[in-house]
Amino acid sequence: MICLGNICRSPLAEGLMRSKLNFTKFTVDSAGTSGGHKGEAPDKRSIAVARKYGLDISQQRSRKLLQEDFDKFDYLYVMDGSNYNDVTSMARNEEERNKVIKILDEAFPGENLDVPDPYYGGSQGFENVYRMLDRATDVIAKKLDS
Ligand code: 4NP
Repeated sequence: MICLGNICRSPLAEGLMRSKLNFTKFTVDSAGTSGGHKGEAPDKRSIAVARKYGLDISQQRSRKLLQEDFDKFDYLYVMDGSNYNDVTSMARNEEERNKVIKILDEAFPGENLDVPDPYYGGSQGFENVYRMLDRATDVIAKKLDS
């Protein structure tokens, strides 16, 4: 699960995805393209909305996306078009490029939707992000774990 800072959107996506997949069969992680918040806990507004729906994401720590993540993971889900451009530009071949998927394409195919960056807005933006990611991770979990 990948966003820019790995403190707002992708920690929520990681928490949701982890809660819906069998941990003995899947490895779920998140990262940011920028690395600007490396080592930080998720934004307190992300922690709060997750907690409201029964998920504890407070122990996650931000890290920067690495080249080796293309080797480790089958799917690299990104939040928006800017993440998509940044991550596909790190891909070394077509197979790696094909691992990169805009996460809302799973729930809303063909609509090319972004999970909006909630960083500069209020708590409603985090609620909105949570709901979008809940829908998307439901679809992904059914697809992968069936
Ligand atoms: P995220 O949100 O990419 O969802 O973690 C952001 C967090 C921090 C910044 C931008 C977006 N920032 O500019 O510091």
